[in-house]
Amino acid sequence: AAGCNALISEHSNYYFAMTHTLYAERRKHLQTEMQQGIAIIPTAPEMLRNGDAHYAYRFDSSFYYLTGFAEPEAVLVLIAGDKPQSIVFCREKNLEREIWDGHRAGPDGAREQFGFDAAFPIAQLDEKLVELMSNQPTLFYPLGADAAWDARILKLRAAVQEKSRSGVRAPDEIRDVRKLINEQRLLKDEHELSLMRRAASISCGAHQRAMQFTRTGQFEYQVEAELLHEFCHHGARDAAYTSIVAGGANACTLHYVENNATLHDGDLLLIDAGCEFQGYASDITRTYPVNGKFSAAQRDVYEVVLAAQAAAIDVAKIGAHWNAPHEAALRVLAQGFIDLKLCHGTVDGVLESGSYKQFYMHRTGHWLGLDVHDVGDYKIGDDWRALTAGMVLTVEPGCYIRPADNVPKALWNIGIRIEDDVVITATGNEILTLAAPKTVSEIEAVMRRTAS
Ligand code: GLY
Ligand code: MN
Ligand code: MN
Repeated sequence: AAGCNALISEHSNYYFAMTHTLYAERRKHLQTEMQQGIAIIPTAPEMLRNGDAHYAYRFDSSFYYLTGFAEPEAVLVLIAGDKPQSIVFCREKNLEREIWDGHRAGPDGAREQFGFDAAFPIAQLDEKLVELMSNQPTLFYPLGADAAWDARILKLRAAVQEKSRSGVRAPDEIRDVRKLINEQRLLKDEHELSLMRRAASISCGAHQRAMQFTRTGQFEYQVEAELLHEFCHHGARDAAYTSIVAGGANACTLHYVENNATLHDGDLLLIDAGCEFQGYASDITRTYPVNGKFSAAQRDVYEVVLAAQAAAIDVAKIGAHWNAPHEAALRVLAQGFIDLKLCHGTVDGVLESGSYKQFYMHRTGHWLGLDVHDVGDYKIGDDWRALTAGMVLTVEPGCYIRPADNVPKALWNIGIRIEDDVVITATGNEILTLAAPKTVSEIEAVMRRTAS
């Protein structure tokens, strides 16, 4: 029976059914932050890929965060103040269209199932918005996110202004609603953390599967296929971002996504891949030898990156600021680069001159959540923001050694990144992605088990 429950929670809308009141609470929180005024938050449009074929639909993350509603052509309207209201505009039921494209909740269904105070057909949006905006002092809106929406909303506001002779006032202040929503999304609640644990766990399985599958002579895309199989098999239909499967020198191209080269004996394989589970991203990088055994040079570089990551994770705790993990990683990398004869001088000298940037040119992480590069400011004013419980970030140092005159030849074309997903907790941190093999001995053991 326990196994059966696990299956239900993994493969059904169980999380959702249990928790739609949670979305209502998130809307309430936002209304409290707004204090007064009207917020208008559209979901994402459907996107054509080519001809009349669409990309798989993906809702807007903030719209979904506040609604749990995954259909396209929907807009959330919140009224804050004495009489708070939560209103959705969505597609009408249409039996003909539903035969072709599937179920639509329709306004009545949306109101009942998703806990809105009111719901209207999306076709009534303009007319109703003129009404709803009337006499609201402030308009909260994601200004600048979409030019077509900007034009439409400003035109509707102008239509309200035109009614001024009848005593109606239009909002005379427009504020970016993302400022409030992003702060809210930055701190993950228990429901979000449970989904992120699940996303991370599926992705760990995928990395393990890739390690077990990898053989000399395969194409990178064949390893990618194993990742995607594992994601989809566990109900994560989409990758959170395009998978990077980069053998040998390809790992030194940071955003390599061609994934069409063959894997060579003696090369490393860098995989940066994570699934999206019920909207939530995971983001994992592992680097391992195609033939299952690190060479001495590969191992030397790998241990430096691994030590840098451990140092960074170690300081990712309450009391530290956003940049502390990056600074911790940089110190270890700088010392390692000196030891490897990639850089010269002292750690402080290397950090000051920036000579490490030839081999480490990106930052050590980012917020993670509904978006892989999730929302939330990294600075408050001029200062890095303090880490607090509920924040989720990646920790992903690397080292990318392109052939160059000033580089020992034995290290040419080694590209390594190690990336984990970390939750800041009250007592330290929780690494969501521990199950993906990471130490040299773990990786070699996993690959040995499957080599025969
Ligand atoms: N996979 C995207 C990143 O690591 O930031
Ligand atoms: Mn990342
Ligand atoms: Mn990544």
